Amino acid sequence: MKIRNLLVTLVSVLALATGVQAQDKAAKATETELETKMDDLNAAYRKLGREINDASKNADSLKQVAIIKTAATAALKLEPAKKKEIPAADQAKFVADYQAGMKQFIGNIDKLEAALKAGKNAEAAELLKALKHDQEEGHKQFRKDKKAKKKAA
Ligand code: HEM
Repeated sequence: MKIRNLLVTLVSVLALATGVQAQDKAAKATETELETKMDDLNAAYRKLGREINDASKNADSLKQVAIIKTAATAALKLEPAKKKEIPAADQAKFVADYQAGMKQFIGNIDKLEAALKAGKNAEAAELLKALKHDQEEGHKQFRKDKKAKKKAA
C-alpha cells in the first residue's frame, strides 16, 4: 500500500513538472525578440545598480555596461510590438521616435562607461539615473500596456 502511495505521488510530481515546463516553453515562444533583449539588459542593469558605487567592482560593472550596450544596440534594430496598434499612417514616426529614444539611451550608456573607466563612480551613479529615466520614458511611449498585453495573450 505504501509503495502504491509513493508511486501515485511520484507520478503526480512528474506530471506537474512536465506541465510547468510546457507552460514555460509556451511563455518563451510568445516572447518577442525585443523582450528577450530587454531581459538581458534588465539583469545587467540590476547588477550594475548594486555595484555602481563600489569602485573595487568597476571591472565587473564595465562588463555589465557592455552587456547593456550589446542588448540596446540589438534592440535598436528591432521594432516594438505596440507598432501594430498604431494607425498605419503614424507607424513610421512611432518607429523613428523609438529609435531616437534608444539612441539617446545608448549615448547615456557611453557616458556612463567613460565615467567608470575614469574611476568617477559618483558621476556614473548619476548617469545610471539618466538610464532609468530613458527606461521610464521608453516604456511609457513604446511598450504595450500590460492589461492590453494580457488581453491579447
Ligand atoms: C535600464 C533600461 C531598461 C530596462 C532595465 C528595461 C527592461 C525591460 C523589461 C524587463 C521589459 C519586459 C521584457 C519581457 O516582457 O520579457 C521591457 C520591455 C520593453 N522595453 Fe525596456 N528596458 C529598458 C530601457 C528601454 C528603452 C530605453 C526603451 C525604448 C527606447 C525600451 C523599450 C521597451 C519596449 C518597447 C518593450 C516591450 C517589448 C516589445 O514591444 O516587444 N526599454 N524592457
